[in-house]
Amino acid sequence: MLRRHALGLLTAHAAASPLLRAAGDGLLGPVNVHEFEDIARRKLHKLAYDFIAGGVEDERTLQANREAYGHWDLVPRVMVDVTNIDTSVELFGSRLPSPILIAPTGGKELVLPGADEIVAKAALKTNTLFCSATGAKKLLDDGEPLHWWINGIGQPSREQAASFARRTEDSGGKAIVLTVDNPYQSNRDRNNRNRFDYGMMSRGVPQPGEERKPVNPATPAMWKPHTPNLTWDYIDWVRGSSKLPVILKGILAPEDAALAVARGASGIVVSNHGGRQLDGVIGTLDALPDVVDAAAGKIPVLMDGGIRRGSDILKALALGAKAVLVGRPPLWGLAAFGQPGVERVLWMLSAELKLSLGLAGQTSLATLNRRLVRKRA
Ligand SMILES: Cc1cc2nc3c(=O)[nH]c(=O)nc-3n(C[C@H](O)[C@H](O)[C@H](O)COP(=O)(O)O)c2cc1C
Repeated sequence: MLRRHALGLLTAHAAASPLLRAAGDGLLGPVNVHEFEDIARRKLHKLAYDFIAGGVEDERTLQANREAYGHWDLVPRVMVDVTNIDTSVELFGSRLPSPILIAPTGGKELVLPGADEIVAKAALKTNTLFCSATGAKKLLDDGEPLHWWINGIGQPSREQAASFARRTEDSGGKAIVLTVDNPYQSNRDRNNRNRFDYGMMSRGVPQPGEERKPVNPATPAMWKPHTPNLTWDYIDWVRGSSKLPVILKGILAPEDAALAVARGASGIVVSNHGGRQLDGVIGTLDALPDVVDAAAGKIPVLMDGGIRRGSDILKALALGAKAVLVGRPPLWGLAAFGQPGVERVLWMLSAELKLSLGLAGQTSLATLNRRLVRKRA
């Protein structure tokens, strides 16, 4: 008989997890996100694994994201009644049970056909906010109470931007997440070495025996423009056509955070695109405090990059993030076990966060502050 306790999530959810039922033993299976990645690496085609796992050039930004969690330490409080722990958060008028959101990731079809719908179903089942990278396409049937935001990289004209904003609103998305760190397709050595062809994001990787004409092996991504003309005016274009909040994803400089507030953005995501755009960039946890200061409480600041543990999330929240997004972890869950794998990864991170809060003497996100963390000298 399973015992319920203060962290009821652990026991109740473990009993319900189809993944654990499939394993036939509650103790089998990956015990953390890293182990999900190990399974994904074994199951995925090398082209697909490298596309997801990889960063840009020497992958210094990718490493910086992970390393940042290592040089901020938690300083827990004790003798606090942590019987009840509330991880809910209010974002743009919706109360969410957890501050962990699914980041937009294009190319999920490389993992599984129908991947966006599968991840959306996992999000619905775990009551997680899903930020979709597939434009304004509706992923689940009408009536499904999925919390979802829609990601876009910007349109070149005012009319196209306005039409995107209207379609997003009509499709039921609750916010527009505009990726602002993507003026050019970046230079990813793993993809270049693998002769990765971006058409594979929709067509999939070659099947055994399938012949495909190789793409130009020499840095095929170099100088391919995405949204080189995206400027602050874009916010006006979108805000004039929809009532949805506009959240800017990819802010690192405090000066840009201040401009975002001044130009009417509704929120900011501190992000370096998971180390996939410019190399040699500051780790997002290190960038977070200055951005939070620049936003001065006027709009919520979220962050992503390198989160693999509940204690990573606690550090980000203590440094002022209102919520966090995870990009690769749900994809590792998807590659390992399909929908139950995504659910399991999301549950694991939520459970680890709740446990970290309890062990740090914290009972809610609302009272977290910077006294809970110290940067190593
Ligand atoms: C395979 C993959 C595809 C991505 N596609 C997009 C995208 O279409 N738009 C976007 O804004 N960010 C995209 N990102 C970046 C994520 O939204 C997020 O910023 C990043 O993955 C967070 O780092 P993490 O993977 O370490 O959690 C992608 C990331 C990955 C791994």
